[in-house]
Amino acid sequence: MKALVLSGGSGTRLRPFSYSMPKQLIPIANKPVLEHVLDNVRALGVTEAGIVVGDRGRQIAEVIGDGSRLGLRVTYIPQAEPLGLAHCVTLARTFLGDEDFVMYLGDNMLPEGVADIAQDFTAGRPAAQLVVQKVADPRAFGVAELDAAGQVERLVEKPQQPRSDLALLGVYFFTSAIHRAVASIRPSARGELEITDAIQWLVAQGAEVRASEYSGYWRDTGRAEDVLECNRRLLESLRPGIVGEVDSRSELDGQVLIEAGARVVRSRVEGPAIVGVGSVVEDSHIGPGTSIGRDCVLRDTRLADSIVLDGASIVNVPGLYGSLIGRNASVGTSARHRLVVGDHTRIEVAA
Ligand code: TTP
Repeated sequence: MKALVLSGGSGTRLRPFSYSMPKQLIPIANKPVLEHVLDNVRALGVTEAGIVVGDRGRQIAEVIGDGSRLGLRVTYIPQAEPLGLAHCVTLARTFLGDEDFVMYLGDNMLPEGVADIAQDFTAGRPAAQLVVQKVADPRAFGVAELDAAGQVERLVEKPQQPRSDLALLGVYFFTSAIHRAVASIRPSARGELEITDAIQWLVAQGAEVRASEYSGYWRDTGRAEDVLECNRRLLESLRPGIVGEVDSRSELDGQVLIEAGARVVRSRVEGPAIVGVGSVVEDSHIGPGTSIGRDCVLRDTRLADSIVLDGASIVNVPGLYGSLIGRNASVGTSARHRLVVGDHTRIEVAA
């Protein structure tokens, strides 16, 4: 089985981050989402992965390279415009050949993995095996309607009156039957070739389309809130350790990882939390659910439940929480509020 990992897209919901980086490189517990995804793909025994990339493909290639570090052989498949998930399958036709494959959205986190579902697929080899999960409000999702035998009868995109609460997650298993399906559909009203339309085409042709329920934790990291929530969740299984330095006046409490070259001085770090390579935390209090990237500086600051990306500095800020701070950003204080803020940024100041 091969893998097709989708890492193009426009990422409008993750602006301003997506103005300067692909959202699939946003770190969760100090590791890019895409690396979490590729680890999951590798855990299925897959060694050949095609990664569909958009105009930020170069940044993705700089981080993932040829994939050997992750035990994979990676082929990059450029997509000039985000014309839909099924469009990605058409672009990957040569890479995929006639092999079975898992299609994985590069911004979806399923930390418990999908090995059981992959086994269901390889055992029965239906034309498509979907991964679904019960959700409270299916109206925001693609929804699968199943018959009594668990065969998919119908897929509906964002139904107003859902007849099922099984939402489609971002992982799909396909045989080569999908290629005829993607070649047979037309763009939807929003101008995209929809994978749900291609799968619906398979159903209409009488092909076997099955769905397996994933019972583990799942997040689509398309919005800042989801990124933070997912970070919190992944930190719960953090393996603690001190590789960097912690001075005698500092206190670490709970699961804390201090990475190489990081320094914690006169500070308290309450886990789960990570202080990344080369970062300095001085006279500060770091609270649970926080990941600090590489080469950051935190001084006279209280910060919890947040992600700080590489090279950022936060000085003299006494009460930051639930924040996502971009690369090389600088956050400080002055007598009044003074902001230099990029497009589509969201700021909340204490009233
Ligand atoms: P989405 O999150 O649905 O789309 P998007 O990236 O355009 O985000 P937004 O809605 O915030 O503008 O895409 C799911 C995944 O699939 C994501 O990793 C991007 C990828 N993708 C492609 O690679 N090519 C495409 O044509 C599309 C639509 C998505």
